[in-house]
Amino acid sequence: MKIAVIGVGYIGTIISQVISSNGFEVIGVDSSKKNIDKLSKGKCDIQEPGLEKLLKKNKSKIKYYSDYSYAKDCDVFLVTVGTPLTKNLKANLSEVKNVAKCLAPILKDKAIVCLKSTVLPGTTEEFCKIISNNFKKKIGKNFYLAFSPERLAEGNAINEFKNLPIVVGSDDKESIIKVCNFWKKVLNVKTLKINTYKGAELTKLANNLWIDQNIALANNLAMICSQYEIDVNQVITAANSLPKGKSFVNILNSSIGVGGHCLTKDPLFVANLLDDLGYSGKMIREARKINNLMPRVYINKIYSFIKSNKLNVKKISMIGLSFKSDTNDLRYSPMIDIFKILFRKFDIMTYDPIVSSDDFSNAVGKKINHFSLKNCLIKSEIIIFGCAHKNISKIQIEQFLSMNKNKLVLFVDGRHAYRNTIKLKKNISYMAI
Ligand SMILES: NC(=O)c1ccc[n+]([C@@H]2O[C@H](COP(=O)([O-])OP(=O)(O)OC[C@H]3O[C@@H](n4cnc5c(N)ncnc54)[C@H](O)[C@@H]3O)[C@@H](O)[C@H]2O)c1
Repeated sequence: MKIAVIGVGYIGTIISQVISSNGFEVIGVDSSKKNIDKLSKGKCDIQEPGLEKLLKKNKSKIKYYSDYSYAKDCDVFLVTVGTPLTKNLKANLSEVKNVAKCLAPILKDKAIVCLKSTVLPGTTEEFCKIISNNFKKKIGKNFYLAFSPERLAEGNAINEFKNLPIVVGSDDKESIIKVCNFWKKVLNVKTLKINTYKGAELTKLANNLWIDQNIALANNLAMICSQYEIDVNQVITAANSLPKGKSFVNILNSSIGVGGHCLTKDPLFVANLLDDLGYSGKMIREARKINNLMPRVYINKIYSFIKSNKLNVKKISMIGLSFKSDTNDLRYSPMIDIFKILFRKFDIMTYDPIVSSDDFSNAVGKKINHFSLKNCLIKSEIIIFGCAHKNISKIQIEQFLSMNKNKLVLFVDGRHAYRNTIKLKKNISYMAI
C-alpha cells in the first residue's frame, strides 16, 4: 500500500512521519518547493517532541514532490492542506478545492481519499463532485472518499496522532468501511463512524468550539477572581467536582490568551455558518473577544502592580514565546501582542529554547536577540512566562530567580504552570490570572 500525504505543513509532516515509521510507504506532495527541499534533507521548521528523531529515521524513506504526477500510483491520499481565514474572516477553502482538481486526473481506480483539513460542512461533498463530475469517476465504484478530522493538539502532536480515536464520515457506506480499515491498519486506533460527510466535518468544529468557549468561561472567571484576589484555580477545581450528565463539570484553565492556527479560526467558521443559516454567531464571537482580551488583562494587572509598589521598572523578560507549551508555533501567540505593547516602554529581554529569535523578530516586526535564561531571570524586575516548555528546567528557574537581587520582582505565570511547583524567594511576587 502506497500512501500520499497532500500538504506537508504542520499536520502533514506529523502524519507522514508517523505512518512511515509504522512501516508503510509514504510520499509527501506540497505546492511549496521550499518546504519540499527542506523535508527532503530530513529537516523542517516544526518543533514537536519526538519529531527530530522521526525525521532522522525516515530521511531516506519518505520522498517529497511538488508535482502531483509522482502520486499517480498511490492507493491512499490523505489531504492536509491549509484552511485559513480570508481577510474578512471567512473560511478560505481554496487550497482544498485546488487539491480536488489536481488529484482527480491522477487518481487510480479504487483509490481511497481521506480529507483531514478542517473545513465547513459541505466541503467534502463539493470535493467529491469535482472528481465525479469533471472526471466521470463514481464514488464507491472508482474511488472512495471520507472525511476524518485531524484533532491532534500541537505540543503533543505525535502522541495524539498515534492514539486519538479517529472519526470517519462519508455519504458512501463503502468508503466508510475502506477508510476505517485503512486507519486500523496504519495506526490500530479506535474508529468512530458517522454516516455523512457533514457530520464528520461538524464534529471537528464542535471540538474546537467547545475548547474556545470553555476557555472563555475560565477567562471570565479569572477576570472576576483577579479583582477579588481569589485563586481562580481553586474556584475551577471546586466547580469541577460537580457531576453533570455522564461526567463532571470540566472547566479548563484560564490563561494569558488563546492562540494558534486552529482555535483562533475554527470557532469563526461556526459563527459564520450560524449567521448564514439565519441564526446568530454572536455568542461564539464574544468568546473569541474574551480570549483575545487576555493579554491586555495581564498587562493591566502588571501596570497596577508597578504603580501600587511604586516600582521603577526598566527590564522585563519574556520567556516561552509560542502560543502553547512544547511547540515553536508562533501563530497568534499572545506573547506577540504583549511584546508589541511593552517594548514601547521597557527594555525587553526574550528567551525561548525552541522559538528562534529570528522567528520571533519576524512575528513582531522588530529585530530582537534572545538572552540566556539565566540573564533573563537575574536581571529583570518583571518576568513573564507565556507558556511552560518542558525543557525549561524548573530547578534552573528557581536557582536563577534566587540570584535576582532586585528589591521586588514580579513573576507572571501565563499558564498557571509554576504556582505549586517552584519555590519563590520573599522578594518575588507571583501573579497568574
Ligand atoms: N496545526 C494544527 O495544530 C492543526 C490541528 C488539527 C487540524 N489542523 C488543520 O489541518 C490543516 C492543515 O493545518 P497546518 O497547520 O498543517 O497548515 P500548514 O499551513 O502548516 O500546512 C499546509 C500545507 O499545505 C500546502 N499546500 C497548500 N496548497 C496546496 C496544494 N494545492 N497542494 C499541495 N500542497 C498544498 C502548503 O504549502 C503547506 O505546506 C488545516 O485545515 C488546519 O485547520 C491543524
